[in-house]
Amino acid sequence: MKQLISALVLLSLSLCAAAQVPAPNYDESKIPPYTLPDLLTTSKGRPVRNVRTWERIRRPELLGLFEKEMFGISPGFPQGMHARVEKEVENAFGGAGTLKEVTLFLDAAGTFPVHLLIAVPKGAKGPVPAFLGINFCGNHATTFDPEVTIPGGKMPVHSGGTKVTEYERGANAHRWPYEYILSHGYAVVTYCREDIDPDFDDGFRNGVHGLMDGGKARGGSSWGTIAAWAWSLSRVLDYLYADPAIDADRVAVIGHSRLGKTALWAGATDPRFALVISNDSGCGGAALSRRRFGETVAKITTSFPHWFCKNFDTYGNNEDALPFDQHGLLALIAPRPLYVASASEDLWADPKGEYLSLYEASKVYALYGFESLGDPEPPGVEEPVVRGRTGYHIRNGKHNIVLYDWMQYVAFADRFLQ
Ligand code: GCU
Repeated sequence: MKQLISALVLLSLSLCAAAQVPAPNYDESKIPPYTLPDLLTTSKGRPVRNVRTWERIRRPELLGLFEKEMFGISPGFPQGMHARVEKEVENAFGGAGTLKEVTLFLDAAGTFPVHLLIAVPKGAKGPVPAFLGINFCGNHATTFDPEVTIPGGKMPVHSGGTKVTEYERGANAHRWPYEYILSHGYAVVTYCREDIDPDFDDGFRNGVHGLMDGGKARGGSSWGTIAAWAWSLSRVLDYLYADPAIDADRVAVIGHSRLGKTALWAGATDPRFALVISNDSGCGGAALSRRRFGETVAKITTSFPHWFCKNFDTYGNNEDALPFDQHGLLALIAPRPLYVASASEDLWADPKGEYLSLYEASKVYALYGFESLGDPEPPGVEEPVVRGRTGYHIRNGKHNIVLYDWMQYVAFADRFLQ
């Protein structure tokens, strides 16, 4: 009897746990009614009618809320950061550019290396604009170019012992069309997420949390992994200011999926990024949380408990209590050029929610006098729209970043960075 009761208790507990994350909704007609927090009203109810009120009151207020309730508060500069150029190879990437490998050490003792791949267009005269983005599986996975160094032995920590064969050269080359980007006059700077923070819940012992937090107790607003990755983008930008090949005032920060969420947070927190690109960033990125379409706050915070700060967990199944929605994250990037992209089969990331979020955020761009997206209906598949300083497309196909996406990003960057 006792056993039966405890079995029933266990069963009901697991049913409760399952009930906490409802099955994903993919039906527009089942989206619950919701009201978005007004970007142009301060928390004290004051209307934001001009750039001054936006920049002095509403923007800092929103930024603080995103820090405290979602991504967590990042630290300042690391002590003793320094860089070492490892090698330079001309005529790399099929002859389209020079490959430079630089190790950026985030500490004075040189125990925390970040391996940067820097691709510079062939024959560049003077510093060039660049796309800066983190990669998932190692620099060697972004290209078949044999000159790109394969990290010795296993990849760092990822998921506790993933086999190195998963990280083969060129495995993600379709995501990094170097020749195309270089031939349009842009450098590419990339490094692996695992160099910064392992992408699993390690109790924040490894990675930059271990380096920067010095064993301090964690609280509800302590930085998560996405904040750590975003912080590292700023550190790499610090380095780029010292690299004569790159014009650090013309750096576009870009990311796909979880790294798209990261690029948005980097763009929001570091105004030095001249342009920001979110590729299929979805929940916790560009997509509106209140739509609860595809991935939800409850789902993301349970599947990836290390990505955000602890406070964010409390908004699972409680989206209406959020003091912001993701249009606020996009608005923090104004007035810098911002491009959001979705993919037609990527319903998990809620393409419509990504567009609507940008549509709402573009009202803040209008405060600065830039044309806003006029239409709450997303454009058709592969009919990119650019209005003022905001751009959007929905590509045909799956969750990914491919040449079609890059072609739009390069064309968008050409308007602002060349
Ligand atoms: C998962 C996760 C998404 C994330 C994606 C990725 O699908 O649920 O939120 O964007 O992984 O990073 O590839």
